[in-house]
Amino acid sequence: MKIAIYPGSFDPPTLGHLDIIERASGIFDRLIVACMTNRRKKTLFCTEERLEMLREITKGMAGVEVDGSGELLAAYAKRRGAAVIVKGLRAMSDFEMEFQMALLNRKMNPELDTLFLAAGDRFHYLSSSAVKEIGALGGDISDFVPPAILGKVKDVICQA
Ligand code: PNS
Repeated sequence: MKIAIYPGSFDPPTLGHLDIIERASGIFDRLIVACMTNRRKKTLFCTEERLEMLREITKGMAGVEVDGSGELLAAYAKRRGAAVIVKGLRAMSDFEMEFQMALLNRKMNPELDTLFLAAGDRFHYLSSSAVKEIGALGGDISDFVPPAILGKVKDVICQA
């Protein structure tokens, strides 16, 4: 069975994330969407909220599991029996950091490959940070966030 992990902060999940989940789940037998810790970022949504939103948007998707971990991704992948990390790649600006992480993860876990999926053309400009900034300044974020979690995302952004 081919198991892959799609890791991220998902703060909050966007339509760009959902696009990658849908496409990757068609490639692998099992896709673990893993809400991980990014020590470079302070999140707006707590871990439980991010997990809940991921569960909501992946509800009913065959072969997709949502999980959370504070481990190193390389160690988590080994523990879960996953041989592939899936990452969405937007513009070239993502590349340097993603390339570094892919190489470091492979150094720490030589059985682990990283597979980059080009972001869908409708989502190249989209990021969780942009969603939070637009929402906080009163902009319409309904084109950027899955409808099932739009209310929750708006509530948390407005309360911040
Ligand atoms: O959505 P993000 O914030 O770009 O995702 C980054 C993430 C969470 C995948 C990355 O920070 C990560 O892998 N965190 C787990 C801890 C880890 O393994 N860090 C070393 C990466 S080389």
